[in-house]
Amino acid sequence: MKLLVFTIIFGLFCHGTMAWVGIILRNDTERASHKIPDNRCFSLYQDIGELGFGERKKLSESCAIATCQPNLDLALEGCSTVAVDGECQILDGDINDPFPDCCYKIVCKESILNKI
Ligand SMILES: *[C@@H]1O[C@H](CO)[C@@H](O)[C@H](O)[C@H]1NC(C)=O
Repeated sequence: MKLLVFTIIFGLFCHGTMAWVGIILRNDTERASHKIPDNRCFSLYQDIGELGFGERKKLSESCAIATCQPNLDLALEGCSTVAVDGECQILDGDINDPFPDCCYKIVCKESILNKI
């Protein structure tokens, strides 16, 4: 039961935390030298490699995700800041976890869970 409550709290805080965005513009020089088909995105940045339209891949060295756009640019989405009250702590996430779990771990004191 406590685990369930924790999961709900974690879910609430996580909601809306995916805020920074960016874009990797298609690079036709790189595309040509790697013989990338016209219907796939490609970037050497952080091991993204080749992605089909709409396909998503987490970056290898950041807690962020790239999505292949129909115009062959790659959209990037990362973590934003979150706020918690004094009973909870924000810890670094694990870079190896899938996005957005890699952003943060929010740990709350037991007492707060018992009040719910
Ligand atoms: C495209 O990629 C090449 C090879 O990595 C690089 O030299 C060039 O600066 C890139 N062009 C742009 C516009 O980023």
